[in-house]
Amino acid sequence: MTDIPHKLKTLQEKILSLRKNNIIELQHGDEGYASAPSNIALIKYWGKQEGKNQIPANSSLSFTLDGFRSYTKVTTLGRFFPVEEQNTPHKFTNQFALYSDLNVFRSFKKNSEKPAPEKINHFINSILSPFAPEIALYVESHNNFPTACGIASSASGYAALVGAIANLLQLEKYFTQEELQYWLSEWARLGSGSATRSSLLQKNSLFVAWRLRENSSEETTTESLQYHENWKQLKHCVLILDDSEKSVSSSHGHKLAHTSPFYGVRVAGMPFKYDRMTKAIKEFDFESVKHITEEEAFSMHAVMQTGTPPACYLNSQVAVVISKFIQYRDAHHLKAFWTLDAGPNIHILYLAEHEAFMEQFIFDYQKINNQEIKILHNKLEKLGTIFAY
Ligand code: PMV
Repeated sequence: MTDIPHKLKTLQEKILSLRKNNIIELQHGDEGYASAPSNIALIKYWGKQEGKNQIPANSSLSFTLDGFRSYTKVTTLGRFFPVEEQNTPHKFTNQFALYSDLNVFRSFKKNSEKPAPEKINHFINSILSPFAPEIALYVESHNNFPTACGIASSASGYAALVGAIANLLQLEKYFTQEELQYWLSEWARLGSGSATRSSLLQKNSLFVAWRLRENSSEETTTESLQYHENWKQLKHCVLILDDSEKSVSSSHGHKLAHTSPFYGVRVAGMPFKYDRMTKAIKEFDFESVKHITEEEAFSMHAVMQTGTPPACYLNSQVAVVISKFIQYRDAHHLKAFWTLDAGPNIHILYLAEHEAFMEQFIFDYQKINNQEIKILHNKLEKLGTIFAY
């Protein structure tokens, strides 16, 4: 990866110098761990600035899904290996497992090993360039939620991977807090844009912004947003209407976004929308957060569906479930709203006081429509930071 920001290059050079001075030393078998939450965007990132490396067209903002996490362990291979084995590809396992305790790293099962996909291999090699070529990594990564269930595993997956490598290199000893945060969120961003919103060290990062910057040498910044205490009562679940893999990957979808006639209008309106949203989060203006989030999901899907070629991530049930949910919510005056990611599964966010109503809605919907819907509840473990393991 050649096109990395100047400040990140400087930090990579700092790692190289620490290595040359034998301050950071990696031995065969050294380990690093991290766990990172997923997130659901309320203001979406869809489309990148042309000719730039992973710079979004607009600022985005997400709610942290602390209960839906990726757990990653990296183990160093190499250094004392003979030359032919020094280029061992990064092995990567990614299997679903639900862990009830935090000793997750002891319970790894190694039954679904596979070589890392080329993109991840290249990404790891870029981060580990100060140790090139003799270090390879064995990566074990697990989600506590099923893949392809409407929760972005790339966000938590890349953030946890970057965190585990930081832990392996013990960067917390050699970097300032600000440098470490920058290193984590920039590498996570380069892996997958939405991952930068899962990479914060700061505890209680309930809402996270990935913001475009003006008049700055840095093009974007990732930061925890100030929020009203009442948002701590916000609960989250996903109604799974289809758990198959998406047909158009988000990296391909970002490339198609500009072909939609609505894209320019959407991007132009973003700064205003973003400002309204941050104010509403600060003031606990529930109605505005609800309105902007729902409008934003429609807006992103409108761009997706009107590109050339169109990318339709929805199915026939989505509109039915959303309209029934809105009818029920309005009839019972519930503080609740919905959003969608790049898929047909519906994320519902609601205040804890309405939990029984939400359960009733789902129960009634299934009964009336004679249809079973899988529901994933975000248990909000409040683990806090990406080194929370
Ligand atoms: O991080 P990526 O490249 O997978 O893109 C994420 C895009 C959405 O999940 C659809 C929206 C978002 O902002 O998370």
